[in-house]
Amino acid sequence: MSHIPVLVEQVMEALAPVEGAVIVDGTYGGGGYSRAVLAVASCRVLAVDRDPDAMERAWEHAGRDSRLIPAPGRFGEIDAISRAAGYEHVDGVMLDLGVSSFQIDEPARGFSFMREGPLDMRMERRGPSAADAVNRLTEGEIADIFHYLGEEPFARRLARGIVQRRRLQPFETTLDLASYVERTLGGRQGKRTHPATRVFQALRMFVNDEAGELVRALLAAERALKDGGRLVVVTFHSIEDRIVKNFLRTRSGHSPGLSRHAPEIPVGAPPSFELVYRKAVEPSLDEVERNPRARSARLRWAIRSGAPAWGGRLDDLPRLPGLKQLEGAVS
Ligand SMILES: C[S@@+](CC[C@H](N)C(=O)[O-])C[C@H]1O[C@@H](n2cnc3c(N)ncnc32)[C@H](O)[C@@H]1O
Repeated sequence: MSHIPVLVEQVMEALAPVEGAVIVDGTYGGGGYSRAVLAVASCRVLAVDRDPDAMERAWEHAGRDSRLIPAPGRFGEIDAISRAAGYEHVDGVMLDLGVSSFQIDEPARGFSFMREGPLDMRMERRGPSAADAVNRLTEGEIADIFHYLGEEPFARRLARGIVQRRRLQPFETTLDLASYVERTLGGRQGKRTHPATRVFQALRMFVNDEAGELVRALLAAERALKDGGRLVVVTFHSIEDRIVKNFLRTRSGHSPGLSRHAPEIPVGAPPSFELVYRKAVEPSLDEVERNPRARSARLRWAIRSGAPAWGGRLDDLPRLPGLKQLEGAVS
């Protein structure tokens, strides 16, 4: 089992690590990005991941290279994590969102609709699982998750069917849910993607609060990066790319679209980031051919200015039933 890192060269170019720098790899995964950084510059890398299996790999890696510092936790807290490791400010933050092949390829983690396993999907291995979500949330909540996070056109129909079916028999495994979705939507009908793709993606994003974590990570990076520090983010989903794009555009003074719902953003504040390219970097056709997972990857990056962090929060998140509520329901 391994994980082929996406857009590595472009990430290194954007991050531009120099000797002595402190870089936060907020998504250590299989360590592809961390290894690439350490190969181009003699710096220190804080290896952050919320998945205990990924952190085990990070500890092994640290045993071979003392420049790698394992720092378990969520990337939404990278400022606190860096401070706890002794770095008040850092030179670079890189995030490679989503799941690793290690996670997808392990049936027991329950991420894949192709492999039988428990309907789990929890990166951290704690908290409510995907099975808790489909078996306990209301029809409306499930429909919202499929609609907003999966952009599933048949969200309501699927949610209605799931609530009826779970009364007879709760969903417990990946293939049970995948085949239910396939039967309800009537098979693949010549399409390349499995009919359960969007539902699985939505549940994974919900269970791990991925959009919320991303927002917190951007704000934490704004606080943690020093003047001239670089933020590099690779996304695989349009919701996530939109969050990163809006964050960098507003904070670099490029966006006229300052949300009227964001009164906490200081009026006339000097830009906290400099956006060098406004467009997202995309993988080459060659890379997509070699690694189909790269297909939807988008890279955005910016350089931290010396201006104070704007702070506040972003308003890009769709309204979703809170995890808290689900936590309450399963505790
Ligand atoms: C696409 S993989 C990263 C792969 C890595 N760049 C490499 O080259 O091997 C994403 C990783 O981020 C981790 N992750 C996702 N959300 C996280 C979060 N909020 N905090 C910390 N780690 C997270 C996942 O557990 C997974 O290991």
